[in-house]
Amino acid sequence: MVHGFFLTALLVLLFLPQSLCLSPDESSINLYYHGGKIMTKPVTVYLLWVGTGWKESGREAIRNALTSLTSSRYHNVKDSGVPTLGNWWEIIRQYRDGDNVPVTDRVDLGAECFYTGTELNMTQDQVFDIAKSAFNWNSSEGSGGKFLSCTRPFEMNKYGIYHVVFSYTAMFFDSPEQWKFMDCSGKFAIEASAGMMVNVVWQREPQNAADICSMLFNGKSYLGPPNGNEKIDSLVGYVLGNTAVEVTNGDGRGWSRNDGTGMTVSNSCASLMWREMDGPPLFKDTTRNVSFNVVGLNGYRYMVPYVWDQKISNCALKYSETCGAKAVILKQPKGYLSTGITVNHTNGLQPYAPNQKCVWKIECPKAKFISFSINYLSIAADSNDQILICESKSDRAKCSVIPSNARRFKLFSSKSYIEFRTDNQVSLESRGWEISFSAGLCNGRKDLYDRDGSISYTTSTSISYVEGLSCQWVLNGKPGTPVSVSFTYINISKNLDFVAIYDGKMQLIANFTGFYSVSDLPRMNLSGVVTIAFSTQTDKGEGWSANFNISSPVNHNKKLWPVIIVAVLGFVAVIVPLAFVILALNKKGKLISRRDSDEGLMLITIDTIREENRIGEGPSATVYRAVSNDGYIAIKCLRNRAAHTELEQEILLKCSSHPNIISLVGHAEDGLRRHLLLFEFMGRGDLAWNLKERGQNLNWDRRLAIALQVCSAIQMLHMYVKPPVYHGNIISENVLLDEFCNAKLGGFGVAKYCSSRENPGQPSEMAEDIWCFGLLLVELLTGEPQVNKQAYKDSRSFEEINELVGNGVIIDRRLEIPNERCKTMALTKLGEIANWCIDSSLRVEGDKNNPKIGDVLSGLTQVKHLFCSISG
Ligand SMILES: *[C@@H]1O[C@H](CO)[C@@H](O)[C@H](O)[C@H]1NC(C)=O
Ligand SMILES: *[C@@H]1O[C@H](CO)[C@@H](O)[C@H](O)[C@H]1NC(C)=O
Ligand SMILES: *[C@@H]1O[C@H](CO)[C@@H](O)[C@H](O)[C@H]1NC(C)=O
Ligand SMILES: *[C@@H]1O[C@H](CO)[C@@H](O)[C@H](O)[C@H]1NC(C)=O
Ligand SMILES: *[C@@H]1O[C@H](CO)[C@@H](O)[C@H](O)[C@H]1NC(C)=O
Ligand SMILES: *[C@@H]1O[C@H](CO)[C@@H](O)[C@H](O)[C@H]1NC(C)=O
Ligand SMILES: *[C@@H]1O[C@H](CO)[C@@H](O)[C@H](O)[C@H]1NC(C)=O
Ligand SMILES: *[C@@H]1O[C@H](CO)[C@@H](O)[C@H](O)[C@H]1NC(C)=O
Repeated sequence: MVHGFFLTALLVLLFLPQSLCLSPDESSINLYYHGGKIMTKPVTVYLLWVGTGWKESGREAIRNALTSLTSSRYHNVKDSGVPTLGNWWEIIRQYRDGDNVPVTDRVDLGAECFYTGTELNMTQDQVFDIAKSAFNWNSSEGSGGKFLSCTRPFEMNKYGIYHVVFSYTAMFFDSPEQWKFMDCSGKFAIEASAGMMVNVVWQREPQNAADICSMLFNGKSYLGPPNGNEKIDSLVGYVLGNTAVEVTNGDGRGWSRNDGTGMTVSNSCASLMWREMDGPPLFKDTTRNVSFNVVGLNGYRYMVPYVWDQKISNCALKYSETCGAKAVILKQPKGYLSTGITVNHTNGLQPYAPNQKCVWKIECPKAKFISFSINYLSIAADSNDQILICESKSDRAKCSVIPSNARRFKLFSSKSYIEFRTDNQVSLESRGWEISFSAGLCNGRKDLYDRDGSISYTTSTSISYVEGLSCQWVLNGKPGTPVSVSFTYINISKNLDFVAIYDGKMQLIANFTGFYSVSDLPRMNLSGVVTIAFSTQTDKGEGWSANFNISSPVNHNKKLWPVIIVAVLGFVAVIVPLAFVILALNKKGKLISRRDSDEGLMLITIDTIREENRIGEGPSATVYRAVSNDGYIAIKCLRNRAAHTELEQEILLKCSSHPNIISLVGHAEDGLRRHLLLFEFMGRGDLAWNLKERGQNLNWDRRLAIALQVCSAIQMLHMYVKPPVYHGNIISENVLLDEFCNAKLGGFGVAKYCSSRENPGQPSEMAEDIWCFGLLLVELLTGEPQVNKQAYKDSRSFEEINELVGNGVIIDRRLEIPNERCKTMALTKLGEIANWCIDSSLRVEGDKNNPKIGDVLSGLTQVKHLFCSISG
């Protein structure tokens, strides 16, 4: 089933292939609560400094690290984007006791003691004694010996954590009993006073660079210790890690793994500390040659171990943010991080949370398009995590996945939804992303008919300056009449963004870029139709503004007036059917125009209709270009006198609001009472001619735009006009291009309202239009007219076309075959859509499975996004 295939293709666009990674066994990897004590009340940390090797600055760094764990103390600290130790402690706070009470948010310093006695040949008993003295120290007695001094004695505290920290000068008596002190940290219990046992944790400074406890910095010249002291900077990690373990697993029955290793919140991540160059990213201060991964209070920076974040089943430095259930709504025309769209965890040091679905909605009612720029994207390659940009919240078909190599993305809509979904796995490589957006407030052409006014695109009016703008303001002066433009301000990116002025034939008159001082601002006296075009390649500029005066603006009437043609004919050719067009001839050849609204008539004066101005020939009509007092128009003259145009007029009027359907400006009869229809003039002629003669000028972007524009016109006919309209002649000759190569659908000669009853067993009329549109797509791809449509239909199978397009064989050789994979994918998909239209439209059985124009349009939109998102 071709239809089925197409749907699958769309789904592939939406959902990246399933990851092949096996998920680790959750039961062994996470930590489990075993019913013991969790420190849920404010904790006091007591420090017993042992040894003579201390520098006060080093001890101060460690005290500061402990004080920095309380996140409420950060109120005066500016968020630098680097995780704080407060953030780090938030991870620890996710662990709760049996009553679901979390670990305390407050860590204070308690008493400190300093032992400066003999530190050589220490034995275990000696260490125990010193620790015990700290609890019983009496300043007036000097108890505990003259080598111990304390700020005050250690208190027996249910929420106390007692640390012994050995300086690098401490040496231990060389016997098996003492060898354990050659580890980097550990724990012992002492009877602090009669019958009162307390746990004491200890850790030691590395004695030299080769010491195992200095592994973090040892041999890594790229790591500069943040406090300028490898010994202290190593010790900080142990003190903090042990503190985290004490609050979550102090009695060994708190939170630990179930896999027999008994690993805790801290040592579950120990291996991260030993990783080499490929380890977790760091912040560097190159002026001071230091590296760090967190900041503390008072400007201190630290290098600390990762701890186990249960929520992401991974090691982290900062608690992973999750998305709320509600969409974040952004209403400003431009946004970056503070307001914008970001899952940017701590500058890339942090994986984002699993099982999330986050939605942002951007609303900017005046936007013609929203341009996204992907500043940073780090999503694990083998995951199902994805960022979707959707036009609608409910219609999944209108979403596009941001490919991993995308840099820019444009959505032609005034609102959009950004959705970020993560699956149940995270890795350190899943660090997040950052997208900024800005709304483009103009797009394409805007016609002006006022005598004077001003036009501008300036940021001063809270408009966003967006890259990728291409906007035109057309000042519609009558041919030959003065139009003046004077700029009041220009400050746009030099040589990248331009304001250009074109005449009625789209010849460039002048262009402006950069900054103009008041005296240099351009003022121009022009005439006729003047186009002011603004194109940007940057978003760095302030804009421009100009005033204009149109001395005789072209009449602009939304309503379709019957027309009396006053023509001066200058035929030289043999065929003179139009000679009878003459209704009145002004002898002086001076042209007048007037509108008599009472009679509902408009007088259009046609200068000359010449045979050489014949621009089109259909089976029943000829089309001429003529110059009228309203500028160029196209006149369609029906050959057959009996032919009527009422239905065509009616249908065209109903669609006149659509930008991709040709506008009818009037109608008339000639001297032979044949019908004439007057259309807006389309400067570049029809698509068939353009593809044949100038195909190399119609690049893939342009062709995709044309496909979308024609499709949107058909959608108007099939879906929005009531009753629905069957065009019946969708061929490239009936697709007309204006100066900017925007397509408009014409050739409504055989259009009619769809029969209310379809013939059973016959394809519907709408299906026929879609079938023709499919051929038009093939023509856009190949650049070759599909002359024998029936033969084409019979001979080419879907697979064949698909293969040809996929191999780049069938696509227009005059254009370069794009070498980016996504562009070829886009073209392949375009081929698939074409074939879907061709192959299944005319299947009589199962009409309900045939493509509908809405589906085709969303398919094409996907193609466009796929194509665009790579091209920036
Ligand atoms: C440590 O004590 C042992 C045994 O008493 C002795 O042999 C050794 O020399 C002492 N070492 C130091 C550095 O005092
Ligand atoms: C400290 O020693 C003094 C003098 O011996 C004694 O009076 C005091 O009670 C002692 N304080 C404590 C807390 O033991
Ligand atoms: C930075 O510090 C490291 C470790 O202390 C050292 O090996 C390295 O040479 C220093 N680099 C500079 C540029 O000072
Ligand atoms: C987001 O992360 C990227 C990459 O690390 C970084 O360049 C950018 O500054 C970050 N933005 C914020 C607001 O942290
Ligand atoms: C601007 O005008 C210069 C000549 O005056 C021309 O070379 C250049 O291509 C123009 N640039 C644009 C963007 O139209
Ligand atoms: C444009 O026309 C005005 C009014 O006729 C005249 O004052 C001005 O000098 C003209 N400017 C240029 C650049 O020709
Ligand atoms: C022009 O705009 C840029 C970008 O906003 C700004 O930095 C610059 O100061 C402006 N120049 C002048 C002369 O106003
Ligand atoms: C253009 O129109 C404005 C506003 O009506 C008027 O003040 C100005 O004099 C006109 N300029 C020219 C050159 O006609």
